[in-house]
Amino acid sequence: MAQASSFYITTPIFYVNDVPHIGHAYTEVAADVVARWHRQAGEDTWMLTGTDEHGQKILRTATANDVTPKEWADKLVAEAWKPLLETVDIANDDFIRTTDERHERNVQKFLQKLYDDGHIYTGEYEGYYCVGCEEYKQESELVPGAGEYEGQLVCAIHSKPVELLHEKNYFFRTSAFAERLLALYEERPDFVQPESARNEVLGWVRSGLSDLSISRSTFDWGVKVPWDESHVVYVWFDALLNYITAAGYGQDDAEFARRWPAQHLVGKDILRFHAVIWPAMLMAAGLEVPRGVFGHGWLLVGGEKMSKSKLTGIAPSDITDTFGSDAFRYYFLRAISFGHDGSFSWEDLSARYQAELANGFGNLASRVIAMVNRYFDGVVPQAGERSAADLEIAAIERRATDASWAAVNRTAIHEAIGAVWELVEALNGYITAEEPWALAKDPANRERLETVLATAYHGLGTLAVLLSPVLPKATAKLWSALGGAGTVQEQRIDLAYDWAVGERVGTLEALFPRIEATE
Ligand code: MSP
Repeated sequence: MAQASSFYITTPIFYVNDVPHIGHAYTEVAADVVARWHRQAGEDTWMLTGTDEHGQKILRTATANDVTPKEWADKLVAEAWKPLLETVDIANDDFIRTTDERHERNVQKFLQKLYDDGHIYTGEYEGYYCVGCEEYKQESELVPGAGEYEGQLVCAIHSKPVELLHEKNYFFRTSAFAERLLALYEERPDFVQPESARNEVLGWVRSGLSDLSISRSTFDWGVKVPWDESHVVYVWFDALLNYITAAGYGQDDAEFARRWPAQHLVGKDILRFHAVIWPAMLMAAGLEVPRGVFGHGWLLVGGEKMSKSKLTGIAPSDITDTFGSDAFRYYFLRAISFGHDGSFSWEDLSARYQAELANGFGNLASRVIAMVNRYFDGVVPQAGERSAADLEIAAIERRATDASWAAVNRTAIHEAIGAVWELVEALNGYITAEEPWALAKDPANRERLETVLATAYHGLGTLAVLLSPVLPKATAKLWSALGGAGTVQEQRIDLAYDWAVGERVGTLEALFPRIEATE
């Protein structure tokens, strides 16, 4: 039997210095939707997420809270980061922590190999370091501070002062891979997406790469450098390796061969690490580079990246407690073109919830199920002779299935949802035009009524399958009301238009109930 093709997708691993906000949940949801889509297309899918627990930033937070960094990380993982997955309904296959033994041991293995093969040397570096980014900054990346930091240079992302560090440590010869990286971007134009991200990456590499300092000796919260225990591995070098240590690198060759390479989804703030340094590290180790790196945009507040450190973070549960996890998932992936920045507003969320989810999709589902109950005692009618309008619905089911799957394969998530929404709109238009309630008044129209409701019922089932990665809760309810076999998630999404219809419908509560204004 042919082997199902494998699909491995990752999120960044998140710093545990603070609790998640909706920007973090955004990446989680995007990766989850793409993963669910591939899984439902029959691919051997694996979705990885996790936490980044070493480095100065976590150490300082823990110290300020009078606990050890490990105690701090354990608390945040248990109380904030794992619960986030429940809050926004993530079906991840694995969760890696950089303090896991499986990770630490194999980081050392990887590093030792690079050292033995001559990719690492001792050097000195002096530069401005941003602890928020855990990264040395060029002067061009700094801006004059404001308020309490007036007169100092601050990081453009965190608006906090940078620290001048002078260190003697180990360096990775990133510069040796510039030519191979450029060849990679050339040969695989979709390696870095979207196009704007690719251009940025090309610009960085063409303007020259400097080697990367990969160890620290001024603190010890990290993985020990195997040949020199007075140093710990630089937190980014450690963190990037999670993508392979979680997939069996160093300990399970069969698993690693099955999963790797991965598709990475990351915020554009960390594109350089993923699209330049990470492939260079893999090349040095003789491993395959990632399948691709997609740099998505930021959720903005007042034109700036939403962040906890700027006190602009909104907790995901503030939204899901009122609107539910399905609406959260739908809203952020529908309203923002994936790859661009976007702003969140309660007004926009409420308006889309009402217009698109409650009125557009939810009402359609309720009406069709209710009419099958009312006019046919719940028995699913069979279509008779089909009119052009009926055939058009079938054609749109096919088109929405193909177009959405093609869009997911380009990580154009908003386009995928848009393609499915054509079917929502077409079905609403069809019902308005065909007026089944009017047909029901005259027994002479019985056959036409059967055909109209059979057509609408079929379209609704296709919608349930196509929307299940985005709206897992609502579509599960709808699927059971449709009387479909098995679960909606077992249905092939790439063949959604061809689902096996049920015999009887059940009842359906409102999928997106009215939200009472709280103010
Ligand atoms: N620990 C590193 C990543 C290591 S990956 C090997 C890190 N962590 S982070 O906690 O700061 O989270 C980074 C990711 O969170 C971003 O890349 C992005 O995916 C997401 N976001 C954080 N703030 C965001 C917004 N305001 N908007 C959108 N995504 C945001 O960097």
